[in-house]
Amino acid sequence: MAKADLILAIDQGTTSTRAIAFALSGEPQASAQKELPQIYPDDGWVEHDPEEIWRATVEVTKSVLAKVGAARVAAIGITNQRETAVVWDRKSGKPVHNAIVWQDRRGAPLCKKLLADGLEPVIQRKTGLLIDSYFSATKIAWILENVAGARAAAERGELAFGTIDTFLLWRLTGGRVHATDVTNASRTMLCDIHRLDWDDELLRVFGVPRSMLPEIRENAADFGTTDPREIDVALPVAGMAGDQQAAVIGQACFQPGMIKSTYGTGCFALMNTGATPVLSKNRLLTTVGYKLQGETAYAVEGSIFIAGAAVQWLRDGLKLIQQAGETERLARSVRGTGGVYLVPAFTGLGAPYWDPMARGALLGLTRDTGIAEIVRAALEAVCYQTRDLMSAMVADTGTEVKSLRVDGGMVRNDWVMQFLSDLLAVPIGRPVVIETTALGAAMAAALGVGLLPDLKAAAANWQQERLFNPDMPAEERERLYAGWQAAIRRIRS
Ligand code: G3P
Repeated sequence: MAKADLILAIDQGTTSTRAIAFALSGEPQASAQKELPQIYPDDGWVEHDPEEIWRATVEVTKSVLAKVGAARVAAIGITNQRETAVVWDRKSGKPVHNAIVWQDRRGAPLCKKLLADGLEPVIQRKTGLLIDSYFSATKIAWILENVAGARAAAERGELAFGTIDTFLLWRLTGGRVHATDVTNASRTMLCDIHRLDWDDELLRVFGVPRSMLPEIRENAADFGTTDPREIDVALPVAGMAGDQQAAVIGQACFQPGMIKSTYGTGCFALMNTGATPVLSKNRLLTTVGYKLQGETAYAVEGSIFIAGAAVQWLRDGLKLIQQAGETERLARSVRGTGGVYLVPAFTGLGAPYWDPMARGALLGLTRDTGIAEIVRAALEAVCYQTRDLMSAMVADTGTEVKSLRVDGGMVRNDWVMQFLSDLLAVPIGRPVVIETTALGAAMAAALGVGLLPDLKAAAANWQQERLFNPDMPAEERERLYAGWQAAIRRIRS
């Protein structure tokens, strides 16, 4: 019989669902992917169909199991888009409403009320988060308020809540396990990140009965066994983490001061701050980085809502390019943008501005502005936003940024990586495996079943593919960045 030497990671993201089988060395062996349709029922509302997410998960998981042979898989790790909320009936397993996605802004009126009630200091102190509809709590409150009979059913203990990790785990285990991990819990706005437990005062504020909530476990833990009726095989689920924290694990950012930045739809940069949470004074989020083998590491996080999505907009909205890959050649084809700045605040500005009413702008156009300048401005904007985050991180932690580990699809673009290094004036390390979220979930699962003994062994697998060193005169760097800051000032609401 084949030796079980692989870990299967399920990566349920905002726009796609993937499964990747990894060897213990971190090398991907097989993968499958399915796009996820987005549902936009109203202005600023974003939903996913949980049944569609479930079907896609089963399909990609079975496909990878078939490719590598199920007997070779030792365990499953799950990683997921964070904050997105699902509420389902415990008996039937059926969701009572579509999943309300992290980008959805329908909780904004409730947030406004909580701010007016002066609740931000207590919420920030307990959860590390700023009041915003990004997090799960206002999404659950909306479902309980607006789905007929939901509140009464929740109070009778008949409904369960979960972020996507929890929903998938419940389904994979045939409804036997209702659990989440510390990182996903830390994004709900209901969890006290100091105690790593649900907080009764916050549950009262948002009107969420405790009986709806999953049990909170470490990232590498016993999350139960899959039900063979669901994916044809019984496998232990041994790792779970929200996707941005999974990338922290996948990038082996296990020492305080280490930072990873993931470039997908948005950009999420997390700095490991060690065993004590650092409360931000610069409007970053404080969050749980991971809890592995009994040790908790906290992180400060900067969340930018639009990164790769700006390139998507150039392709699908403006039709300036046919493929994302063309942007590198276009950016290189000009010496600069000629003073053009694109601020992609399509859904408002995230960290450190948190300005939901700001909207995007293209500034500094002249008769010489062409497609190449606009494309380059979109790529530069991703780097300027990363610098905004880094400045806030340095101010919060007093830690000088020595280097940055990057991942996600956009980091394939060498031009962006060089400009990022130039603008931050720090070396940028690109790893061999850039699908780091899935790798992190696999590493957690490998720790969970003992295939990796400890974090040191997990870190030993990290391999750099290329290092980009800064190569821009300081004067030019500061002149370009000052132009960005001026552009930001002009679009604030
Ligand atoms: O906080 C939202 C984040 O977890 C979403 O990540 O990669 O699914 O867009 P992604």
